[in-house]
Amino acid sequence: MRQRTAFSRTPFLCRNNFRGILLLTTSNLFLWTEDLSVATQQVDEQHKGLLDLFNQLHASISEKRGNDTSREIFEALVESTRLHFLFEESMMRLTHYVGYPAHKTQHEFLMEQICAVQTKLDNETGEITIDFLNSHKIWWENHIRGSDRDFSVHYEQSELNKSADHENAIASEERATWWKFW
Ligand SMILES: [Fe+2]
Ligand SMILES: [Fe+2]
Repeated sequence: MRQRTAFSRTPFLCRNNFRGILLLTTSNLFLWTEDLSVATQQVDEQHKGLLDLFNQLHASISEKRGNDTSREIFEALVESTRLHFLFEESMMRLTHYVGYPAHKTQHEFLMEQICAVQTKLDNETGEITIDFLNSHKIWWENHIRGSDRDFSVHYEQSELNKSADHENAIASEERATWWKFW
């Protein structure tokens, strides 16, 4: 059984063993469409990256490329998801978004689902299934089109969005939050 890292103390930060960018072909399972676009390019790019990893994972499982390959893509997806959520939540705190607690709860829900799969993989009592991927996909579709777009409207009107230094401000806030988990 693999050892848990310090991150596993919280349901949100469940692993820290992302091993790099993976170069596999994508399937068409979860295509990017303009109705998934939100106000900020950075968030759009992160969402596209997550969709790409998701499609790689689906292709790997569908084509039975092996547990190691699927596991590696899964870990990359977990890490990218975690970093994306931290980024969005930093933006929400910086702009005093009233929907922040509810939005964060949605993020935590997905991370709990993901961590439950990780635990089963660690214990060799389960596998990544197409059903899991399908429910994962539905969550993302609903979340981006609903909660992320709602926040996007708020963010677009915020002072932070108008600030030339908004990227540094978000990065600083992220770092400040990150250390609280240690
Ligand atoms: Fe998002
Ligand atoms: Fe979100």
